Amino acid sequence: MRVPLLDLRAQHRAIREEIDQAMARVVEAQAFVLGEEVRLFEEVIAARLGALHAIGVASGSDALLLSLVASGVGPGDEVVTTPFTFFATAGAIARLGARPVFVDIEPASWNLDPARVLAAIGPRTRAIVPVHLYGRVARMEPWLDEARARGVAVVEDAAQAIDARRGGRAAGTIGTFGCLSFFPSKNLGAFGDGGMVLTNDPDKATRVRRLRTHGGEKMYRHDEVGMNSRLDAIQAAVLRAKLPYLEGWTEARRGIADRYRALLAEAGISDFVRPAEDDPEGRHVYHQFTIRAVRRDELRASLESAGIGTAVYYPVPLHLQPCFAHLGYHEGDFPQAERACREVLSLPISPTLTPEQQGYVVERIRAFYA
Ligand SMILES: Cc1ncc(COP(=O)(O)O)c(C=O)c1O
Repeated sequence: MRVPLLDLRAQHRAIREEIDQAMARVVEAQAFVLGEEVRLFEEVIAARLGALHAIGVASGSDALLLSLVASGVGPGDEVVTTPFTFFATAGAIARLGARPVFVDIEPASWNLDPARVLAAIGPRTRAIVPVHLYGRVARMEPWLDEARARGVAVVEDAAQAIDARRGGRAAGTIGTFGCLSFFPSKNLGAFGDGGMVLTNDPDKATRVRRLRTHGGEKMYRHDEVGMNSRLDAIQAAVLRAKLPYLEGWTEARRGIADRYRALLAEAGISDFVRPAEDDPEGRHVYHQFTIRAVRRDELRASLESAGIGTAVYYPVPLHLQPCFAHLGYHEGDFPQAERACREVLSLPISPTLTPEQQGYVVERIRAFYA
């Protein structure tokens, strides 16, 4: 049996007609960049997630960059974030000449440890970038008020967490800015790159809109130097057609996660494998279903040879990346993040995963440790 990590073709087969119509509409209109399609998509995402403003941009990476620019981050500033994330989180900070200040994660959620965030806020801190890794919203309550009181911006990296919730609020609508990615493998995926900035602040929304079109709202008038980071109309049309399905896909992911936990418990391998916990205080959307595994790389190779796709997100913590050597971090600085890099393995989590496929995945894991 073959079990891919993510089966986008199965998803597409189920909704092909609607997607074809959406794409044909854009081709017919011959209006490919921003415009009505993007405006309509921004409107439905804002309403759906409970944000006052949603601004479509070229990628999740750009959403981070533009949010940080609009937060006033620049050379000499410090931005607190996690070393256990995709590179883009810290890349955006460094691109602006600011310094990523890493703090360790908490082991149960793999997200920023709130006590360490509080301790890391200093006079140069301009922003904090919590990442809602794997689709679980980071605990921000312990430091959110302090950040606000000190005028420190909060840029949520919600690239993996669309429609995840905490305290009834959607990921990306809790801080100053929220950043979404529509990379094809994300829970809501485009047919290429795409991203979005969420904010409830009208002035900040205006600033991001301006920044995405070279810093000008009117043609050939540039109030500041921005960049070209626009969402394509085709992507907006595809995403708007997919959006009504997101809730069903998310619930399917949540059901698959529950079933993984039940099957792994039955398999009697708790000495070797610890599955992701559900969020007791919010809604985890399981962009990934991740386990901690003893002999992780051997397990991964064994599953691979059994036709089962898995992934390691992420094998190297950002404080040990060559491009950040000048920051002066060393191995041992963030033990929880480093341990996670050695232990994590993400299992197949397509909303279309069948019970047979899932049973097979767990059976092969059990057999590996038998
Ligand atoms: C945590 C995180 N941040 C940022 C990004 C960047 O998003 P994009 O690939 O759309 O630039 C991604 C996804 O790739 C991500 O997983």
